[in-house]
Amino acid sequence: MSIISSDITKAKELLEAGEVVAIPTETVYGLAANIFNESAVKKIFDIKQRPLFNPLIVHIHDLTQLQKVAIEIPEKAKKLADKFWPGPLTLVLKKRDTVPDLITAGKDTVAVRIPNHSVSLNLLKHLDFPLAAPSANPFNAISPTSAEHVAHYFSDQLKMVLQGGTCTRGLESSIVAFDGDEAILLRLGSISAEEIESEVGKLSIMNKATNKPTAPGMLSKHYSPATPFIKVENIQSFINDHPKKKIGIISFNEGFKINAHSTQIILSPSGDLREAASKLYSSMHQLDLLDLDLIITESFPDRDLGRSINDRISRATK
Ligand code: TXA
Ligand code: MG
Repeated sequence: MSIISSDITKAKELLEAGEVVAIPTETVYGLAANIFNESAVKKIFDIKQRPLFNPLIVHIHDLTQLQKVAIEIPEKAKKLADKFWPGPLTLVLKKRDTVPDLITAGKDTVAVRIPNHSVSLNLLKHLDFPLAAPSANPFNAISPTSAEHVAHYFSDQLKMVLQGGTCTRGLESSIVAFDGDEAILLRLGSISAEEIESEVGKLSIMNKATNKPTAPGMLSKHYSPATPFIKVENIQSFINDHPKKKIGIISFNEGFKINAHSTQIILSPSGDLREAASKLYSSMHQLDLLDLDLIITESFPDRDLGRSINDRISRATK
């Protein structure tokens, strides 16, 4: 029997009983548990095989709940919350003592967002605790953008995936932290740096890939398909140079002449970066199932969501 279900009451009961339930959001699916239940949160780390030094995002449904997890909220954070919540923006704020160390990896800050997905907002409204939820993929695998992706990863380890359809944004939230009056972009995501800057002025960008555990959330190797995945300068010449290979092609807006055993996905024929971002992970999932020799992609425009796409491609092709 499938673990995918639309039964919100069942999801609520499982979460109240200390279980992990996969939930939909507009960015990617998350593996959710009650932030105040230590053994439930530990299950998230076990299921994901995620190191404990990597803190989790807390999902809430309104600003009253925000007061229960964060204190001393900077003006710029208020402005961003006002503009982008519910939505794909995570704010890193000073935490309340009541937020367990397991959630924040012992840091004095907590990452928090209000997701923009009617199913999960409805669920959160019926719970009297917020939900910790990292992306619902095994550590280092591609984030899931459909309930089926999650079931494919975790059908043996999860009791339930709450059905919420295909994620409309398809890339993780953008993460912003604060240092005094300065806003710092810690992770490029579904809201472009330009959009955030139009609200709060110049951002410092600290999205650099690293393998040092001291910089949680910025591990360089991330989001990879199992099939070898590389970025090439020129897709058509690469295909011409490797006529015998079964190649998967992920391109921005152009089509190419391919051989019969290859497959191409054009993310946005009209050249819309938001559409391309929303389909990037699903195209990686799809091609990864085809038993190809390799998957190739290209550089996207270095602006708006093209920068978030390039960031994920550079991590996945390492
Ligand atoms: O779109 C998203 O944000 C999805 C959905 C499910 O909401 N969640 C997600 O979670 O991407 P995850 O765990 O895959 O990524 C969360 C990132 C991690 O890289 C973590 O290091 C960072 O947020 N993070 C969490 N708490 C933090 C904190 N207090 N300071 C700095 N970074 C933090
Ligand atoms: Mg993740």
